[in-house]
Amino acid sequence: MTRYADGRMLAEMEDGVGLVTFNQPEKRNAMSVDMWEGLGQILDAFADDDRVRVIVLTGAGSKAFVSGADISQFEKTRADSNAQGEYDKLTSAGRAKLADFPKPVIARVRGYCLGGGLGIAMQADIRIAAVDSEFGIPAARLGIAYGYEMVRKLVSLVGPSHARMMLYTGTRINATEAERIGLINRVVADEDLTDVVVDIARAIADNAPLSIRAAKLTVDDLVRPDRDRNREPIEAAVAACFDSADYREGRTAFMEKRPSRFNGR
Ligand code: COA
Repeated sequence: MTRYADGRMLAEMEDGVGLVTFNQPEKRNAMSVDMWEGLGQILDAFADDDRVRVIVLTGAGSKAFVSGADISQFEKTRADSNAQGEYDKLTSAGRAKLADFPKPVIARVRGYCLGGGLGIAMQADIRIAAVDSEFGIPAARLGIAYGYEMVRKLVSLVGPSHARMMLYTGTRINATEAERIGLINRVVADEDLTDVVVDIARAIADNAPLSIRAAKLTVDDLVRPDRDRNREPIEAAVAACFDSADYREGRTAFMEKRPSRFNGR
């Protein structure tokens, strides 16, 4: 296990799955500025490591995924709009790395998933949550505003009507409601959370990385505003699949009735 941000961010890798842990349980894994930096460093390392096929984000302990930004730093780092601009700069590298991460990301949620923590979970490709999880955006309770990108993500997942309800009331919803409105993919019993996430991560890690890359690029592009869309890299990614050794392996393995062994080339 590798420690970042004085141990408040942890990274480990097993069987093609990179695990990222938000590790500030005494503050319900609230996200401090240095944790954003640590997250960026972990994502860089996992992006460059061909052995990593998929990553899982999770919170330490059973009480929270991430309870939002670390409010105890607000007086110093986010006291007004100027300071907020600085705060954005300090955290933007980590945010951009998460938004542009080239491999699939699964958020494994247990407990509170609030504000910026929900923002992190929404940047993941897939969200699986234990039944005891709670989701909310308390920005209006604190007198701050949820950023454009996060509201866009929220609307793309749940539609404008549920987005307004969450943003205007600032109240929390449970995992069953979160699944009903499309905020998460699946709600599972607390004791099944690890197994379900491992199964999904394994299925992804065993599939052809280039196919998944093309799928990720395409879905990302489709949920972007029209003006920001770009088909070129998608077409190149699709062509790369058809020209790949993995495609040959996939065909051969099917004919030979054995599992495929893909290597991303
Ligand atoms: N930033 C900093 N500290 C936080 C935090 C956050 N986002 N969320 C929780 N903590 C700290 C609490 O201050 C408390 O510290 P203390 O033990 O020194 O008093 C500790 O974590 C435990 O929190 P507590 O409120 O006692 O636990 P709880 O289980 O009753 O409630 C929450 C948990 C997450 C519902 C509640 O702490 C909360 O509402 N946090 C703020 C969430 C928020 O507004 N997030 C958006 C920020 S943009």
